[in-house]
Amino acid sequence: MPAEVWYSGLATAGKIRDTFIMKYLFITPMDDEDFVELFVKDCKYYDKTNVELNTILSLVTFKSNDTIIDIGAGIGRLAIPLSKHIKVTAIDTNKALLSHIKEPNTRIINGKIEKLNPIDKFDYDLIAWPGFNNYEEVLAHIKEKILKKTGKLIIVKSKQHDLKSITQKLFPELFGKEKGLLEVLPNFFEIEAEKIVWTEWVYPSFDEALRLIIFELEAFYGKTISKSQKPIVEHFIMEHEKEGKIHLSANLNVIICSPKK
Ligand SMILES: C[S@@+](CC[C@H](N)C(=O)[O-])C[C@H]1O[C@@H](n2cnc3c(N)ncnc32)[C@H](O)[C@@H]1O
Repeated sequence: MPAEVWYSGLATAGKIRDTFIMKYLFITPMDDEDFVELFVKDCKYYDKTNVELNTILSLVTFKSNDTIIDIGAGIGRLAIPLSKHIKVTAIDTNKALLSHIKEPNTRIINGKIEKLNPIDKFDYDLIAWPGFNNYEEVLAHIKEKILKKTGKLIIVKSKQHDLKSITQKLFPELFGKEKGLLEVLPNFFEIEAEKIVWTEWVYPSFDEALRLIIFELEAFYGKTISKSQKPIVEHFIMEHEKEGKIHLSANLNVIICSPKK
């Protein structure tokens, strides 16, 4: 399908999302097949060296009977490989994304983490690429109801992202208003270890990068990219072209924390 058709479809989907969801939330209507397909596709071009998983494994030593809950697990990008090392529960508000997790020994919960009240608390909680707008509530709930007192919270979060150079240009109204995860974190958790690692997306062509980057921007920020903004995205993509492929990079914080006493 030509990029233009995808683009206008996404713009419409973006408008719908804009009216129904709050900024920064990754919640979409359950029947939004475009969203799920594009999310899955975008993940295929990302982190080919498994740097996220390998960094987690270098910072913590899991025992096979330990339990972890992947909070906002998406399609199980990390939950699936982690299930080879530890007992995994994957929770997400988006049922369609969760349907990609088919490992028999992985428990799936479709719902909001803020509403979960498990009988057995977890040894580890994972939050990777968080998309919440209520970090105070989520972190307080994790500390009180989800994680054992001796447990560890693992966070994987972008620190610097090539896309940030245009997101501030595209959506200046969204910046500097809400408290981010790392700002709220010290109220509930203490950082024990941290690594900064580099990772990247490699898109095979300009058109593929255009449709997926517009999707990412619209889904993550809950905003529509207007026709007049599109050249900003196109220019950005051309700047990141090397031998026909588009390379976008990000530095990530991989953080291990324990609940504050
Ligand atoms: C940016 S995605 C990250 C997905 C996955 N962690 C990864 O790294 O591939 C954020 C995910 O959080 C989920 N999510 C948002 N709010 C949530 C909530 N309150 N409880 C559980 N999941 C939530 C979204 O549906 C989405 O799949």
